[in-house]
Amino acid sequence: MAVGILLVGGFGTRLKPLTDESPKPMLPVAGLPVTEHQILAAKKAGVHTLVLATSYLAEIFTPYFGDGAKWGMKILYAVEKEPLGTGGAIRNAAELLGRDEPVVVFNGDVLSRHSIADQIKFHTDNKADVTLHLIDVEDARAFGCVPTDADGRVTAFLEKMDNPVTNSINAGCYVFSPDVIDKIPLGTVVSVERETFPALVASGRSVFGYKEQSYWLDVGTPAALFKGSRDLVEGDFQAMAGTTIAPDAVITGGTSIGARCTIGAGVHIDDCIIGDDVTIGDGARLSHSFIAHGTAVAAGVQKSAHYLSQKLDLPIIV
Ligand code: GDD
Ligand code: MG
Repeated sequence: MAVGILLVGGFGTRLKPLTDESPKPMLPVAGLPVTEHQILAAKKAGVHTLVLATSYLAEIFTPYFGDGAKWGMKILYAVEKEPLGTGGAIRNAAELLGRDEPVVVFNGDVLSRHSIADQIKFHTDNKADVTLHLIDVEDARAFGCVPTDADGRVTAFLEKMDNPVTNSINAGCYVFSPDVIDKIPLGTVVSVERETFPALVASGRSVFGYKEQSYWLDVGTPAALFKGSRDLVEGDFQAMAGTTIAPDAVITGGTSIGARCTIGAGVHIDDCIIGDDVTIGDGARLSHSFIAHGTAVAAGVQKSAHYLSQKLDLPIIV
């Protein structure tokens, strides 16, 4: 068994304007918030208590996840008035957790099918201080670059470099031994990637890389968010409970439609993410567009590559 921390306090700058009204981890992917996909994966791995480390638009999380009973786990909230950075957020959230189990930390914008349970076992078997999930990517420049030695020990942690020394990157899921988290100063802005990890490696602490090359995606840009949603949708489209679709509507391209939506007659939708409680009027045509929860799209509207909400109608680069 283990406890966990979800880092969900970033501004989601690269996803603007989608993140003007919702924190990045609460954006729907295949009908559920990114965070909910992560909670389901954590639960499967035996995580029984999870702290959401929130800051930007913190108030959006609590009504949705409550005390976690719906997911069969305990969910707690650590709110940073000003963002404390990834390391500061981990330390702040850990104040709500005990010190007798490993702590699994998740970047809040990652869809991963790796075995969290195997990563925890690898960590415990090695008696490690920290174990990072690593994957290989073609272009490591946008990530934390993490070389390891033959035993799997991390030899350096190099956040976002122009000439990566390896294709092996930090996949954004860490297992910490609780006493290591206590070394991070409390109430201080700290980057786990730029400060904590390099310092742990430099001081010879046992930082291990757990390599598992399974499905993995950081949904931090509009194009990646749409890919993540399409990847989870099987077939032409997917719709959640309580949604009604006119028989002659044509829905394609891995579109996902949230709960309690109404899709009118003659509507065409291709490669869209549609939130909950959305109404799409007769004859509307939408492609590569993100329709926020609760939006009413008028009959006959035609949009491509747009973010639509009750308040906003803005182009997005998908
Ligand atoms: N609570 C809190 N407070 N959360 C934060 C803060 C903060 O101050 N800053 C960032 N986060 C959260 C974000 O919400 C996100 O879920 C996660 O931390 C990572 O931040 P990103 O902004 O998405 O970082 P990145 O994608 O550029 O890089 C990170 O992820 C890569 C893998 O996707 C790094 O960890 C890289 O090393 C890694 O390779
Ligand atoms: Mg990211």
